[in-house]
Amino acid sequence: MHTLEIRDLFVALTDQPDKPIVKGLNLTIKAGEIHAIMGPNGTGKSTLSKAIAGHPGYAITGGDVLIDGKSILEMEPDERARAGIFLAFQYPSEIPGVSIANFLRAAVQARLAEGEELDATAYYKRLYGKMDMLKIDRKFTSRAVNDGFSGGEKKRCEILQMAMLEPTFALMDETDSGLDIDALRIVADGVNTMRGPKLGVLLITHYQRLLDYIVPDQVHVMYDGRIVKTGDKGLALELEAKGYDWVKKELAAV
Ligand SMILES: Nc1ncnc2c1ncn2[C@@H]1O[C@H](COP(=O)(O)OP(=O)(O)OP(=O)(O)O)[C@@H](O)[C@H]1O
Ligand SMILES: [Mg+2]
Repeated sequence: MHTLEIRDLFVALTDQPDKPIVKGLNLTIKAGEIHAIMGPNGTGKSTLSKAIAGHPGYAITGGDVLIDGKSILEMEPDERARAGIFLAFQYPSEIPGVSIANFLRAAVQARLAEGEELDATAYYKRLYGKMDMLKIDRKFTSRAVNDGFSGGEKKRCEILQMAMLEPTFALMDETDSGLDIDALRIVADGVNTMRGPKLGVLLITHYQRLLDYIVPDQVHVMYDGRIVKTGDKGLALELEAKGYDWVKKELAAV
């Protein structure tokens, strides 16, 4: 079984390496599990996911990230993707002029071994198969990536990308604004369709409601750069009822 282990991780901005944002975070995710991270704005949730994916703006200044016991810190972002990591951005970029079909094709091609060519017929067969599985209209693939997309369409694009890349570990950073109930359902249905022993998910969200649809194995509260509390789905309900001040007070009391 595959494992993603985050060990005493410190992350800072690359140009401010002495100011940690993530401060000694520990988390182990096994394939087959869904972990949710919740926490107040600015606690380093997006920073954590971007650092794991290898975003150049973020530097890992301490600790380690390991897949099946092997450190990924020396790997370039594309190597990390080949090792099975997928990052769904909180704020995805628009790529005008590039259709979703071509974008996905390039993404799938990039994950093949050197010299290996993607077979176009097989690619489209797979793409349409995944789209049917996720109930996405065929017309969707001819649109430019995220160009003028609604929140829901962006989510569809993200889920389709994830389905095509079949990651072992998906880091999903769900934006805290602008997602209506339909967009939440797109994410939830997509993840639930893909849920299984081969996929581990780290789901960053502010929405307790999303966790009604995607029931996580564990819920973690992140505060000031580390995980300060872990529980099951009940913890998300408790957070919704009591707010984060409750966690802060508990921490202050220790
Ligand atoms: N590229 C950046 N440039 C400057 N500051 C940054 C950058 N990335 C993160 N930060 C700072 O690091 C801290 C953590 O930000 P991060 O986006 O990781 O928080 P978050 O937990 O994802 O918040 P939210 O819940 O609002 O999405 C914030 O103070 C933020 O301003
Ligand atoms: Mg964030």
